[in-house]
Amino acid sequence: MTSDSQKIVEESAKYLIKNYEPQPFALERGEGVYAWDVEGNKYIDCSIGYAVASLGHANPAILKTINDQAAKLMICQASYCTEAKLKCAKLLIENSCFDKVYFSNSGTESVEAALKLVRKWAYEEKGPECNEIIAFHNSFHGRTFGAASVTEKRHTQPFFGPYLPGVHFADFNNADSAAAFISEKTAAIILEPIQGEGGLNPANIGFIKEIRALCDKHDIALIFDEVQVGMGRLGTFFAYESFGAAPDIAALAKGLGGGFPVGAMVAKDRFAKHMTVGSHGTTYGGNPLATAVAHTVISEILKPGFLENVQKVGAFMLEGIKEIQRQSNKITDVRGQGLMLGIDTTIEIKKLLRALQKNGLMASQAGKATLRITPPLIITKAQAQDTLDILDKTLKQED
Ligand SMILES: Cc1ncc(COP(=O)(O)O)c(C=O)c1O
Repeated sequence: MTSDSQKIVEESAKYLIKNYEPQPFALERGEGVYAWDVEGNKYIDCSIGYAVASLGHANPAILKTINDQAAKLMICQASYCTEAKLKCAKLLIENSCFDKVYFSNSGTESVEAALKLVRKWAYEEKGPECNEIIAFHNSFHGRTFGAASVTEKRHTQPFFGPYLPGVHFADFNNADSAAAFISEKTAAIILEPIQGEGGLNPANIGFIKEIRALCDKHDIALIFDEVQVGMGRLGTFFAYESFGAAPDIAALAKGLGGGFPVGAMVAKDRFAKHMTVGSHGTTYGGNPLATAVAHTVISEILKPGFLENVQKVGAFMLEGIKEIQRQSNKITDVRGQGLMLGIDTTIEIKKLLRALQKNGLMASQAGKATLRITPPLIITKAQAQDTLDILDKTLKQED
């Protein structure tokens, strides 16, 4: 007999463009770290929409903010100031090395804004020829044309070309490889402190420091794409705090809204001042509802003890996975920081993800074959232990 869940999945195929491989069941609701499908099956959600729902599903503080702000003012012309936008901007700036913020609606838009900003900065400060960008192999920065142009995947998607010219791909964690592309035409270097989609590859602190030094030496803008790793995911508010060097510009989204679509680009004044009136904009970016939610999310993340808990539970999970690795030969590598963990196993990744679902755990794939664990930042030690138990059980079941 066809289940309600299957009916939704099958009927959806009739109406939705198939740009995703559909999951085997339809989801209905979520609460905290848990999500339920239409049949009522419960899952620990360590995917949370690709590292988005940082405060878990149906977070009461977010729900209250949505209710209150939607009843007050949901949208206005982007040129209007609102208290919501001001309060959110203040929190981002007063708790970072940056001076100004531009709000967008998604990660790709934040990256796009950063690319346009560095292009304009370089054009005005260094000359029109200075427009090249250095990115890295296995990068992922989004799907609009600018962001896609600095994303490794462009090499496998020629059908969308031509992409932005003047983009060079260096080897990640190899500053010499980036240095080899530097010329008077180089406007910016963009990188993810931990590459997410590309396979969960953490940058070495030494590499980040060398890249910072290269940017200082050659007057190149340094952009960190913190869309996935920022806003507490690594156990620090901004990811750069974990790497001993600050960028000039950072792109944010995902965890910033805890599930509500909102993005931001933060920049130091030297760069931000080049985004002048009329040079860039967005209809929805910085709307009162999105910024009120982001303000609530940031306020929760900055509460005393919140980030320490991310560090503590993250370290507990990492150690737990390493213990499973010691007990079985099915885990070949584990890496990551805070609550962004990647696991390589001997089991085919799609098969492993399905088996984990059957045992009550949702996770996601990073790169070609890495299991990505990105639970809500509010996960408790007990829930982390349940996650480890499911992982252990599943690995024992599968070949
Ligand atoms: C590092 C990074 N940058 C940018 C993006 C694009 O974000 P969005 O899907 O919100 O456009 C993603 C999405 O996965 C990402 O992981």
